[in-house]
Amino acid sequence: MSSLEPLQLTVNGTAYSRHVPPRMTLADFLREELDLTATHLGCEHGVCGACTVFIDGRTARSCTVLALQVQDAQVTTAEGLAEGDALTPVQQGFWERHGMQCGFCTPGFLMTVTELLREHPSPTDAEIEEALG
Ligand code: FES
Repeated sequence: MSSLEPLQLTVNGTAYSRHVPPRMTLADFLREELDLTATHLGCEHGVCGACTVFIDGRTARSCTVLALQVQDAQVTTAEGLAEGDALTPVQQGFWERHGMQCGFCTPGFLMTVTELLREHPSPTDAEIEEALG
């Protein structure tokens, strides 16, 4: 039986304090402890991007980050992008243009595109390819 370690962090603007196993990933913490299931798990080794979240405002693959590594951090998931019921412009664009296939990786794309447009409001094709690659 592994010990539990204290974890404090803020997710989507809400402060949480929990005790977690040392080897629990951030993705599992978000899904299992906080029931924030928009963070999807595909490859579980940092390749597919379905699990992408913001950690202190920067995208990160939550399947390759231990929950304890985000001690005192600000985490944002796809659930935290919009304020209230209003979609963000990125979410609205995905909605209007059917910017998905099966939708499984859509939360990861929303996070990645949100960061891209924050840093490059009018990205070039090369910047888009780099960000999504
Ligand atoms: Fe594929 Fe995390 S689940 S990168």
